[in-house]
Amino acid sequence: MADLRAGIVGAGWIAGTHAAALRDLGGVELVASADVVPGRAEYEDWRVMLARERLDAVLVCTPPDVHREVVEGAAAAGVAVYLEKPVAHAMDDALALRAAVDAAGVVCAVGYQYRAISFLAGLPVDAALLLGAGVSDTVQRDWLGDAARGGSMVLERASHLIDLERFVAGDVASVSAVEAGDAVSIALRFASGALGTVVVGRAAGGPGWRLELCGDEGTVTLELDPAFRAHGAGLALEHDGPPPLRLSLACFLDAVARRDPGAVCCSLDDGVATLAVALAAQESAQRGAAVALA
Ligand SMILES: NC(=O)c1ccc[n+]([C@@H]2O[C@H](COP(=O)([O-])OP(=O)(O)OC[C@H]3O[C@@H](n4cnc5c(N)ncnc54)[C@H](O)[C@@H]3O)[C@@H](O)[C@H]2O)c1
Repeated sequence: MADLRAGIVGAGWIAGTHAAALRDLGGVELVASADVVPGRAEYEDWRVMLARERLDAVLVCTPPDVHREVVEGAAAAGVAVYLEKPVAHAMDDALALRAAVDAAGVVCAVGYQYRAISFLAGLPVDAALLLGAGVSDTVQRDWLGDAARGGSMVLERASHLIDLERFVAGDVASVSAVEAGDAVSIALRFASGALGTVVVGRAAGGPGWRLELCGDEGTVTLELDPAFRAHGAGLALEHDGPPPLRLSLACFLDAVARRDPGAVCCSLDDGVATLAVALAAQESAQRGAAVALA
C-alpha cells in the first residue's frame, strides 16, 4: 500500500513536534505545510495547499479560533483530520466542524494525547476523588492568554486534565472555577457522584502534571510527562511504546489507512464533550457561580 500523504496547517510549535513524528513513522509522507506567516511553510493559504496536493490527511495545528474553517475545508475535500485540542474556542464552532466531519464521513481525531497512554484500561474507574494538577512553564505564543481566541489557561492547559478525568470518571454534571492570572482552580462534580479537581498554572520548575485517583482501595498516582506511569493501591504500570503525543498520531494514521473512524484515541465527540466542560469552567470563573452541564 502506498504511503499516506499528510499536510499540516499552522507551522508553529506543536506542528514541529508532529512533523518530526511524521518523518519517523512509517507509512506516511509529510507532503506540505501551510502557514499565514510568509516563509514559515510551503503555502501561505491552506486552501491552495488542499487544492494542489492530493492529501489523505491534514494535521490542524492552528490556534483554536482557526480550527473550524480548516476542518470544514478539509472535510469538504474528503481529507481526514487530526485536530489539535481544544476542538475550538467556542461551542458553535465545535458543533459546526463536527457536523462537517460527520457529513463527509472522514476520520477525525482530537489531540488529547493522554488518551493514548497504554495503561489507561488498567486504572480503577471507581475513584471518589480525582486530583489533577498541571503546573509548569509553557512556550509563549501570541494567542495564549487571549480567551477570545481560545487561549485561556482553561482551554489550553486544564482541558487536558478535564479530558483525562472524563475518561476515568465519565460525564461531568457541574463545574465551578476560580482564576487569577495564569492560575486556575476547577472543581468538577461527576454524574456518578465523584468529585474532581483540576489546578493549572505557569511556573518555571513547577511540580509538573499528575493525576491522583483516590478510592476505597487506596490512591493511584499517575505521573504525566515526561514519564508516564501509575503507582499505588497495588498497581505499578508503565506506559509502553512511543510517547503518547506520537502514539496518538500513529493511532490516527492507522485509522485513516483502515478507513475506520472509530479507531482513533480521542474521538471528536469526546473532544466536544471535554470542550463543553472547559467552557463551563470558563463561564463559572467569570460569573463566580457553579455552572451545570446539560
Ligand atoms: N496536544 C498538545 O499537547 C498541544 C501542545 C501545544 C499546542 N497544542 C495545540 O495546537 C494548536 C497550535 O498550538 P501551537 O502551540 O503550535 O501554536 P503556535 O502559535 O506556535 O502555532 C500556530 C501556527 O498557526 C499559524 N496560523 C494562524 N492562523 C493561520 C491560518 N489561518 N492559516 C494557516 N496558519 C495559521 C500561525 O502563524 C502559527 O505559526 C492549538 O490548538 C494548541 O492548543 C496542543
